[in-house]
Amino acid sequence: MNFRLGARLWWGVPILLVLLWAIGLLVVASFPGLTTPPSYVLWLQPLGRYARDIASMIALGSLVVGGLLTSSRRALQWAMGWSILWFAILAVLLMLTISDVQAVTPWEALGTAPSFLIDDYVGRVFLAQFIGIIVFALLLSGAGNRRVAWMAAIVGTAACVAPSFLGHGGMVGEHISATVSLGIHLGAVSLWVGGLAAVIALVLVQPELASSVLPRFSLLALWCVIIIAESGLLNASLRVGSVSLFVGTVYGSLIIVKAALLGWLIRLGWMQRRRAMPQAVSGSTSLLAKFAGREFVVMGAAIAISVVLSRIGPPSGTLASAAFSPLSIVALGLVIPALLAWSLPRPTWLSRLSEYPEVPAMALLVVVAEVAGLGLLNRFLGLEFGLALGSLVLVAVGWIAAACLFGTRGMIGIVILAIGWPAVIILTASLSATRASWQLNLVSIVLAEAALVAIALRQRSRTQDRELVHV
Ligand code: HEM
Repeated sequence: MNFRLGARLWWGVPILLVLLWAIGLLVVASFPGLTTPPSYVLWLQPLGRYARDIASMIALGSLVVGGLLTSSRRALQWAMGWSILWFAILAVLLMLTISDVQAVTPWEALGTAPSFLIDDYVGRVFLAQFIGIIVFALLLSGAGNRRVAWMAAIVGTAACVAPSFLGHGGMVGEHISATVSLGIHLGAVSLWVGGLAAVIALVLVQPELASSVLPRFSLLALWCVIIIAESGLLNASLRVGSVSLFVGTVYGSLIIVKAALLGWLIRLGWMQRRRAMPQAVSGSTSLLAKFAGREFVVMGAAIAISVVLSRIGPPSGTLASAAFSPLSIVALGLVIPALLAWSLPRPTWLSRLSEYPEVPAMALLVVVAEVAGLGLLNRFLGLEFGLALGSLVLVAVGWIAAACLFGTRGMIGIVILAIGWPAVIILTASLSATRASWQLNLVSIVLAEAALVAIALRQRSRTQDRELVHV
């Protein structure tokens, strides 16, 4: 058993807890005459869900790498160890789920578990997953044979996908497409995240495998990313029916943040392929491990957000308030633009403006206040069209500002934004009819400041590179 596999994926745990706190999901809602589950279940249950996701992904990924992409007894042993852990975590999660659903303590849930597994729909999904893990583990012992490895991969993927039947889709009427697309999404995420954890660990202990296993995994990862983006966006559009629900609710804005994280992962994966893979093939694996470490942190954040999404559930109806949620303002005005500016070459027409980064930085603050705070566009163009155009304006002005921040004088613009952003968010919150909680505003400000620190670090290293070239 290798506990260090994808160790940085666990960085998602603090992100998960902070998000649960900010959204108010750690407070027990009590109603007169109704019993409630113990308060610790509120954070232990999503934590168990997160741990189950990671364990299932690493078990499946280790099998695929050790049994299909190459032949490695070591990786198959990892798959066995992680599938035992997966089973144990699932058993604990079952108790926590019964406790949550039936408002009893997890110890009392032990008594009702057998009937829950057979009589309840949620219990039957758990039962199917338990059986899947057992069959997966049994097949693993013969996975040295490719045909058995394929069978184990199919059973393991089915067990990873099973939680999609517990989502808000279910398997009834129009929800079938939501459930099927979530299943495909989960399958691709499991292969990608778990496969990356296993392939990096394997190449670090057996560098001679790099030349054969890395290109194969790279191709698999490319397909997984395409499927994740397609199925994620389809699933999101089935659950979130309008622009106002995307940018105006916590659920919708977390999906926007997830899409930004996927963009970041694609950029990191591309750097991995262009720079780290050739070095690893020629024997030096340090850059490969460095990039993978960053990918695991971003993946952990995306998985944490997913667990929160499934906990809050999609917004009902088709219309939200006329306001941008603070998280979508950061995602649209800073995070996505910074990613675009980092990934795309800066157009020449921006070179002159980047000598005065204070101008686009101030412009961005003004646009955020006008578009998100005063809702200028919605007033004239109507809610949905106004919010859609407002989102595009935020991304466009944010991109111009971010592109200038990466220039040689960028630091002054970064300082202006670091000071001005909290003020603009507080102003926006005070003007909004449906006020976001102070916790959510605080988290969005911290996220914005973290994005600005990341831009500052990148800007400094670019400036140093330029100075070295001149020397
Ligand atoms: C374009 C990008 C993405 C979009 C639009 C998207 C959207 C979604 C949606 C709508 C759900 C359903 C949430 C619910 O049950 O209410 C979901 C679930 C999930 N997503 Fe994504 N996603 C994206 C990228 C990613 C990435 C990059 C990862 C991980 C590396 C990821 C991991 C997951 C997981 C693990 C779940 C299931 C969570 C659970 O039920 O416990 N997604 N996604």
